[in-house]
Amino acid sequence: MIEIDHLTKIYKLNKKQQKEMKTKDTIKKAVDDVSLTVNAGEIFGLLGTNGAGKTTTLRCLATLLKPTQGQITVDGLDVVKDSEGVRRKISFLTNDIKMDPQFSPDYLFYFFGRLHGMDAADIESRKKELFEYFGISEFKDKKVEELSTGMKQKVSIAVSLVHDPEIVIFDEPTNGLDIVTARAVLDYLKKLKDEGKTVIVSTHVMSEAQKLCDRIAIIIDGRLVALGTLDELEAQTQTSDLEDAFFEFYKIHGKEA
Ligand SMILES: Nc1ncnc2c1ncn2[C@@H]1O[C@H](COP(=O)(O)OP(=O)(O)OP(=O)(O)O)[C@@H](O)[C@H]1O
Ligand SMILES: [Mg+2]
Repeated sequence: MIEIDHLTKIYKLNKKQQKEMKTKDTIKKAVDDVSLTVNAGEIFGLLGTNGAGKTTTLRCLATLLKPTQGQITVDGLDVVKDSEGVRRKISFLTNDIKMDPQFSPDYLFYFFGRLHGMDAADIESRKKELFEYFGISEFKDKKVEELSTGMKQKVSIAVSLVHDPEIVIFDEPTNGLDIVTARAVLDYLKKLKDEGKTVIVSTHVMSEAQKLCDRIAIIIDGRLVALGTLDELEAQTQTSDLEDAFFEFYKIHGKEA
């Protein structure tokens, strides 16, 4: 179980960032007092528009960023005080982690397996399973830079799952993928759930969240504005689809409101 308790993350902005963001503010509150619980064995969706704070929230959860305020625990382990213990339980897939283009999928898989303290036999059997599932086998000795976008993404997914983690955190896993590849990735998330894993996924694609997630948290401008099953979110807004529900919440909580 994952508990996010009053999480706030404030970034300091340098001159360049101020210019880019067209603001005189010296800080940006990217996540504003978010509390939520992710239950073991569910697919939990973080839904929000660009800049809502999805990646920041997930990076705090994945021990890559320190919360400014608040606490996050993973199965009782604090992400700051026991970051190593948390890292053993999770995998984190994000678009900003780049694989070294010179290396092959085969090498990278082995390298990350060793990093997680796995022995060669375990790495090999895990590689067989994941490379076969994602159709990586025939590309396994090519350089990452020679692979298509979709194949690169599948390789990063396989590599991120080498240690067979209990909790899988995916930041916009289908970003930039065609529908066939996206479907393969989403099907894999369902498979992980069927195996009893906990999956947390961020997206701004409504149809994806609608089909995939047991529960959905809607984040607008760093704040959690709604949380529930698809049915609950629709009932709360008297709508019959997630996109309509999202816009109802956006009308109330969006910047223009
Ligand atoms: N390192 C940083 N320094 C300063 N501001 C940042 C930094 N990273 C993110 N931000 C700002 O914090 C806010 C939340 O960003 P975040 O990347 O968490 O949003 P997101 O929901 O993942 O958006 P996207 O859909 O574009 O990936 C945005 O306004 C962003 O510009
Ligand atoms: Mg993001």
